[in-house]
Amino acid sequence: MKPIRKAVFPVAGLGTRFLPATKAIPKEMLTIVDKPLIQYAVEEALEAGIEQIIFVTGRGKSALEDHFDVSYELEATMKARGKSLALIEGIRQKPGSPVYVRQQEPLGLGHAVWCAREIVGDEPFAVFLPDELMVGSPGFMKQMVDAYHKVGGNVIGALEVADSETDKYGIISPGARDGRLTEVTALVEKPARGSAPSNLMIPGRYILQPEVMRILETQEKGAGGEIQLTDAMAQLIGNQPFHGFTFDGQRYDCGDKAGFVQANVALAVARADIGPAVRSFIATL
Ligand code: UTP
Repeated sequence: MKPIRKAVFPVAGLGTRFLPATKAIPKEMLTIVDKPLIQYAVEEALEAGIEQIIFVTGRGKSALEDHFDVSYELEATMKARGKSLALIEGIRQKPGSPVYVRQQEPLGLGHAVWCAREIVGDEPFAVFLPDELMVGSPGFMKQMVDAYHKVGGNVIGALEVADSETDKYGIISPGARDGRLTEVTALVEKPARGSAPSNLMIPGRYILQPEVMRILETQEKGAGGEIQLTDAMAQLIGNQPFHGFTFDGQRYDCGDKAGFVQANVALAVARADIGPAVRSFIATL
């Protein structure tokens, strides 16, 4: 079984649900307390043993590149003032990393992942949607990689949602269950109300075999007129092992305004430094 060494972060979306905040700032740079969403996702990847970070970006996303680069002026000024660089030094990646590829037009998540095909090459890889913040210990991807080492093939997240929510997500048609692992027998993107095969949605974490890139190459547009990753993954079922993994932790959909605020509140009250002040403020509301 090949190890999962590479991770693709599609960050070329327009973030229209979060306007006006995302007019000039990438959605992935919005902060949960004091850290941009993208950094949470990269840290989750590194914890899972990922060695190569691949960002699929688009125009207007240069703040993401700067975030993982050296900031000479900031570092020099902070050093001269005797301030600790701990919070910014840790972000810097090794020379030559991350790798950035461009998705020229936002044609959909499947198309964004396919844009990374040359860098991914012929090995299994992870995909992270960084606007979904996963809070758990160990992190979601570490838990998924451990599960992958047991079953191989493709492993995607599988989280329960209310029946009324299934038309918003990619949904799993479940087979046999074994603890946190569920065999996947089919996948459907945004099923019409009342037609979902289960209430297990696919969150933004995936471990996929490279064959999915070949399928994406000729994938037609699906739900919403976009090239859907779900449709391409569905074609792997039956040819390769395919499992859903239920995360032991909490998911926050930070591409949605309510989810974003909930994540900020939850992480703020959990912090030793600002938690007490935030808690007592909330009590006054
Ligand atoms: P979303 O469905 O959240 O789309 O994409 P979006 O454009 O970011 O946001 P809204 O819906 O307009 O508010 C899920 C993930 O896939 C990436 C996004 O950047 C996000 O991480 N994506 C989506 C791309 O990289 N390219 C695309 O063409 C579409």
